[in-house]
Amino acid sequence: MREGVKRSSQARSRGLLGAARCPRCSSKIDLAPSAVRCRKCGQVYPRLGAIPVLLPEPVDYFASCGRQLAGLKEQVEGVVKDVREQLRSVDLLPSTRRRCRTLIEGITGQLADVRAILEPNLPVAARSGGRGRSDRTPATLDHLPYLYRDWGWPPEADGENERALALAERILQGRCPGRTLVMGAGACRLAYELYHRYPDAELMVMDLDPVLFSAAHAVTHGETVAIREANLEMGDLGQAVKEWTLSAPHGPVDDARFHFLVADAVDPPLAPGIFDTVLTPWFIDQGPEDVRDLISTLHRMLKPGGRWVNMGPLKYSLDVPFSRRFAREELFDLAERAGFRVGPWKSESGPYLVSQLNGRGKTEWVLAYSATKSVSTEPGPGQQDDPPAWLLFRHLPVPTFEGQALFWSEASMVRMVVSSIDGRRTLDDIAVLVAERARQPDVSMSQVRTAVRQCLQQVHPTCGAAG
Ligand SMILES: C[S@@+](CC[C@H](N)C(=O)[O-])C[C@H]1O[C@@H](n2cnc3c(N)ncnc32)[C@H](O)[C@@H]1O
Repeated sequence: MREGVKRSSQARSRGLLGAARCPRCSSKIDLAPSAVRCRKCGQVYPRLGAIPVLLPEPVDYFASCGRQLAGLKEQVEGVVKDVREQLRSVDLLPSTRRRCRTLIEGITGQLADVRAILEPNLPVAARSGGRGRSDRTPATLDHLPYLYRDWGWPPEADGENERALALAERILQGRCPGRTLVMGAGACRLAYELYHRYPDAELMVMDLDPVLFSAAHAVTHGETVAIREANLEMGDLGQAVKEWTLSAPHGPVDDARFHFLVADAVDPPLAPGIFDTVLTPWFIDQGPEDVRDLISTLHRMLKPGGRWVNMGPLKYSLDVPFSRRFAREELFDLAERAGFRVGPWKSESGPYLVSQLNGRGKTEWVLAYSATKSVSTEPGPGQQDDPPAWLLFRHLPVPTFEGQALFWSEASMVRMVVSSIDGRRTLDDIAVLVAERARQPDVSMSQVRTAVRQCLQQVHPTCGAAG
């Protein structure tokens, strides 16, 4: 019986891990060997500890991790130097001296903890802040509070972890999520809870943050991790620093059905159509430059009938233009046009990362919904004057148009876009052709897509352009 269970979980695991693709050449890639290498293009993908890093420029990623760590060290050293100088002053109360000293201890201790989590997982060359060519996929160290909350805070009725799970379960309506991709999984507590709630589910967690993933991997594999939370702005002297012991409350996960992958969730290096559920917790307003591009990705990753389960505040990064900071109604409209059926949904306000050390944090409005991918391949309906769905999304074929063969423009990019339209290629396919031709490494694919969209708007009669 045990053997049978083992075999069936191995078969399932081959399913999800077997879906990995080389982020450079898209061919199938085997994640089993400790040194992952694409057999077709030869690219090597080092690991972050045990976690495969499937990014097109893995060396740049690790260099970015090293630089972030070096930057954090420099920042801490700067504060320590400044506070030490202030301590030379004679007009300080003994309690002020105590506060300043605990502050120094707190932040140097926190830095040491972060280094202890991350450094052993980095290739040696990256530990000292290695150099990379670009920061297109930056590794961030900005999310430490997720670690305290996910794995340090004690269980609490209506606590933040408990509320997140309850909301997810409500939207899932008690149905097993099956094969699930968690995009921007962060410290992974929600994914871990779903893993325990649904023994038939197989989960893949994806993120770019090297500290969250290093700690989450250790904790979900039965280790305990110590990390200090340092408080620079004490309201009360007792709030200087707290050491959290991070651990997983229900024991370790089984690698056969819980997989970590460092990858860009906006363009996951995975075969299409394999997931029953894609969960985007507190992600869609932070990860993609344009949510419409992510909706196409979700459509691509899900099986027909699969569910996109979203939870989060729609509090977009400041660099997202206002016209793309979609509200609930726009998101639902977009999802329907892309070929999803939306519902159920719920919105509520609740505490968000309210520190258990100093009581500071915020109340956040959160929207949660499920959107089911239609079994039909047709996009959802739109009104006659609306922009065509193939212009909004990157997964739908761009139709040919009358007079296309005779079309000419002085702009070579416009000519190229028009000559690429064959009734099968999508906006994404055309953008890839344009990017290959343009060879400008500093221009992101999202920027290329925007440029292609603008060309199509100018020339395609369905977009209202003069024929
Ligand atoms: C607001 S945090 C939410 C974390 C977690 N889902 C939670 O609810 O606690 C957003 C997460 O998305 C990750 N992220 C941002 N852009 C990403 C991308 N393109 N691909 C994968 N992860 C990304 C960040 O590293 C971060 O962990």
